[in-house]
Amino acid sequence: MSELVKTWTEWLVNSRFSYMNETQKQQTLLWLINVRDEILSRAKLQPGDTVIDIGSGTGLLAFGAHMLLNGKGKVIVSDAFTDCLDACQRIAEYCGITDCIEFLQADATDIKLPENSVDVVVMRSVLVHILKKADAIKEFYRILKPGGRISIFEPIIRKNTRYYQLINPGSFPNYAKIKDAEQKMVSDENDSLTNFDELTLENNFRDAGFKNIDVKVSIESSTYEVRAEMIDPWFNAPPSPGKPALKQMFMEFMPEAEVNEFMENLKIELGGKNITINSPVAYIYAVKD
Ligand SMILES: C[S@@+](CC[C@H](N)C(=O)[O-])C[C@H]1O[C@@H](n2cnc3c(N)ncnc32)[C@H](O)[C@@H]1O
Repeated sequence: MSELVKTWTEWLVNSRFSYMNETQKQQTLLWLINVRDEILSRAKLQPGDTVIDIGSGTGLLAFGAHMLLNGKGKVIVSDAFTDCLDACQRIAEYCGITDCIEFLQADATDIKLPENSVDVVVMRSVLVHILKKADAIKEFYRILKPGGRISIFEPIIRKNTRYYQLINPGSFPNYAKIKDAEQKMVSDENDSLTNFDELTLENNFRDAGFKNIDVKVSIESSTYEVRAEMIDPWFNAPPSPGKPALKQMFMEFMPEAEVNEFMENLKIELGGKNITINSPVAYIYAVKD
């Protein structure tokens, strides 16, 4: 059984890297910096802007925006969870940042700000954790000033490469069950991680009233050699705090003994082989009229 990860900071600092070697961790950090820069560049920050980073986590976007504004404007660091805000406050103190920054505890669907009060909303990988995405997107529209911009990034997990696409059906006695389980996992409307794609998000933005919606999909592709010891962490690391790990999700469809057998077969099938994983992501930019 996997351990449940209890806080977002624990997940952001440790758990998300748990199955990676040092090189993969460095590559992921560099990738995150590129994603941050792309989101902020699409947000077209101007001197004097009030920018809110929704679901700041450990401040990837918030501190990037603060650097770009360079003392001319304000960044609101906002998250639903106090451990994230505490972490960002510690980082701000450590870096000597005292001006042009505010901290706000708020759920993305109920942001404690007046309407028409911010120039820019930025956000990375937060809607993916919210079941009712349309409610959050309406809330972003409410707090933006007319002419305000939103720039976000979300992984489209529903379209990621699946295990059944990486393995030889002949080597897995339960191949049909595995495929069926994976297909059902990504079509569960009650799972915030997979109940959307770039098209449903674009519709949510349009329905909320946004204009000039620009959706850019990019397929992040990574090729690497699998080591057998990667398989257990893949199946046991939760995708986010409080969510079941993959092993538990498979156990909704197959008895534990069969999932264990699948994992052991995967070690033999994929161990020492190069695999390519495709993970589509969406950058969305829009304007409030
Ligand atoms: C994957 S992390 C991303 C953190 C940060 N944006 C980054 O790019 O590193 C998801 C963040 O969303 C926050 N979050 C999850 N549900 C939320 C909600 N309903 N309202 C606001 N923030 C939420 C979590 O606390 C966490 O900081």
